[in-house]
Order: sequence, then structure tokens, then C-alpha cells
Amino acid sequence: MAGLVGLPLIPSTRMEFPAELPPIVEDVTPHDEAFWTMVRDHFPLTRDRVYLNTGGLGASPYVSINALRTKIDELEIICETGHSEELWYSIKANAGRIFGCNPEEIAYTRNTTEGVNIVCNGLPLKRNDEIITSTHEHVGNTIAWLMRQKREGIVMKTFEPSMRSAQENIDRIEKLITQKTRALSISHVTTATGQVLPVKEIGELAKAHNLWYFIDGAQSAGMMPLNVHEIGCHAYATSGHKWLVGPKGTGLLYVQNDMLDIIEAKWVGAYSNTGHFDMLSGEVHLNPTAQRYEYGTVSTPLFVGLGVSMEFLLRIGMTNIWRRVHAMATALAEGLSALGAEVLSPKHPDEHSSIITFRLKNLDRQDLQSFLAEKFKLRTRGIYEGGLDGIRISLHVYNSFKDVEKVLEGVRAAKNL
Ligand SMILES: Cc1ncc(COP(=O)(O)O)c(C=O)c1O
Repeated sequence: MAGLVGLPLIPSTRMEFPAELPPIVEDVTPHDEAFWTMVRDHFPLTRDRVYLNTGGLGASPYVSINALRTKIDELEIICETGHSEELWYSIKANAGRIFGCNPEEIAYTRNTTEGVNIVCNGLPLKRNDEIITSTHEHVGNTIAWLMRQKREGIVMKTFEPSMRSAQENIDRIEKLITQKTRALSISHVTTATGQVLPVKEIGELAKAHNLWYFIDGAQSAGMMPLNVHEIGCHAYATSGHKWLVGPKGTGLLYVQNDMLDIIEAKWVGAYSNTGHFDMLSGEVHLNPTAQRYEYGTVSTPLFVGLGVSMEFLLRIGMTNIWRRVHAMATALAEGLSALGAEVLSPKHPDEHSSIITFRLKNLDRQDLQSFLAEKFKLRTRGIYEGGLDGIRISLHVYNSFKDVEKVLEGVRAAKNL
């Protein structure tokens, strides 16, 4: 073991983080810079570069990181899981406020992709049953369906999201519906262009045709106010580690109460069941709530951190957040258009989110992304989904109108290359 001598087995001193939550506020305007600077100061996120990739991964505030660390310390000393029904439900209460649903309709997952898999593989679909999805889905909402198609012969039909109008998207979906259509699986906000799909109207369509309706909410929960009951979807999955600014490796899945016995819980174990079970008689009962989709030991500290992150956002207010991030995105899209960049995101205020995707005619995507990273220290994400070949900018509560200016400055410079 001589080789191990000198390894830093004890971590060096840990940075002390302030632990406050922001104040609860009512109405804040998108241009109240003092307020939004205060919000920014809650994040340890480095100021050495401009972080514009919340669509990929969200930064967490000090208070949530602190809660996560403290829980780890507490549990490691006693070596316990920390699982408790009371704690589970207190965190799910915040999730319910984010989703606009009851805490019993929420299951913890590791990420959106796990939620997609639970729904896709749990639905009672058979050979030749059709599902409708879009060509702008993230791989996380694609592979599970493709594998089910390959394995069991379900049929995936796709529509290309139109940037012209919400109605055109509803029409495109409706045209694909046949006697064999069973389910719709779409993103609320697409990963490719940040387009907000008309999820409520699509919900009405799903209802009229008796279809199961699943929404991939990876890019929407934590960005905008939500009400899954009003949308009328049967299930809605998201990640804790994007717009919800929670710990990495957390996710939430909403399943409507009436769907619990339709979306079969296939991965089950401790916590999925309730009450008595018997090996001899085969008696077993699934938990009557969405908790039936949870199984086995999970990291309590991660979910404690997620609960605090959601509290953080709820204190600022989802409407305030949405107005702010939407206003920044509008300023960015207008600035990019004025510079002659091709904005791939929808223009209509009801249809664009706080994600804006664009490209330049004179510059290859990868070259543009590298240029912005190297010369302007902008962390963006390249978009290859749907063959778009663009650059995606995600704007969240820790971003500012100054960040928007910085992007425009970078693009102006790139145009002259
Ligand atoms: C729309 C959408 N769905 C699913 C995912 C996958 O998220 P995760 O890796 O957290 O499962 C992403 C990630 O960017 C996404 O944008």
C-alpha cells in the first residue's frame, strides 16, 4: 500500500457558502436589475465565463448546495439512508407547486430520461399501435420509443414542428392521427429551438381522440409557471438538474392519478409497494400513489437539495422568473435578427421560451461555437437535433441583459470573420 501514502484522503478545507433563501416577493419587473443582481449573488457559478447552457445543466444556488452537503454530513455520521415518508412528502409538496398537481402524483427519478422510460415502457402498447412525436425531440425522449418500436413493433410517426403558428402544429399532429394511434409524446419546450408547443390545445386533441398524452418537460419546469392538470396530460417528466437548479442526478415524474394502473410500474421494489406482501400466496400491492415508480435506496441528500432549489424558485415566483427570462430572450432574438443572424426559434411571444437558437450563414456551427467560447467566454450548446446546425442560448435567473449584450457582441465579431 506504499503507493497510497500521500494521497489527499482528507479533503482540503471546504468553501463556506452562505445559506439564506431569497425573500418571498410579489411582483418584480424583468428590468429590476437590483433584484435580479441579488438573485445572481445566490449562485457560486463562476463569473469567469458567461454560462448559457441551462438547457443542458442548471447551476445550483448556495443554499441548495449547502442543504445537500449538510444532509450528506448528517447521514454519513450515523450511516443511515435518511428516507422518511414525511421528508419525501414535504419535498413533493414543493414539486406539486411547481407542476400544479398533488404531491401524491409525483415520483422521484434520476432525470427526465428515466421518466420517459417509465412512461414509454409502462404504457400498454402492442404491435402496430402508433405513437406521435416530433422531429425536434431530445435523444432522451427518442431512444426509449425507438427501442420499443424495434422490440415490440409499435410504430412511431413524427411531425416537424412548424415555426409559423401554434395552430399549424395542432393541424400537423391531427393529420397523423389514425385508428391505430394510442399516444402522443412531445416536449413542452423543445430542446432544439426552445419552441413552446401549444400543450393545452394538444391536450384537447388528445382527449378528443382518446389518446394517452405524455409531455417531456425537461426544458419547461423551473422556467415557467406550470399547471399539468390544466394542460390535461397524463404524465409529465422533468429533470431536477436543469431549470429547477437542483442537484445533478435528480428528476421528477408526474403521473395523473387515474393513470397509475395504466402506466404499469415495471421497475419495482422497496417503496413501490405498500402494506403486506406474501411470497406463498403471491399477494402484493403497489403504492396507491406515484411513489410506486420509485424503488430501492436513493440519495436523500440529492432530493433534499432539490426541495430547497424548488423553494428558492418559488420564493422568487415562477411568474416573475418567466417574465424575466422571456424578456431577455426577446431582446436576444431581436438583437440577433438585427445583426442578420438566422434565428431558428419562433418569433411569436407565446411560442418562444428563454431558449434561443440561431446560426450564421458565413460560419460553420462548430467554428462559431468555438469562436464564442474562446474569444468571448460564452458557454453555449450546439444544436444538431432536426438537422438544424445552430447555437443554443439558454437564459435563466442567473443571466442578465448584460449577458445578452455579450452574446450579441460575440456574434457581431463572428460575422466579420
Ligand atoms: C427535451 C429534453 N428531454 C430530455 C432531456 C434529457 O435530460 P436528462 O439527461 O436529464 O434525462 C433533455 C436534455 O437536454 C431535453 O432537452
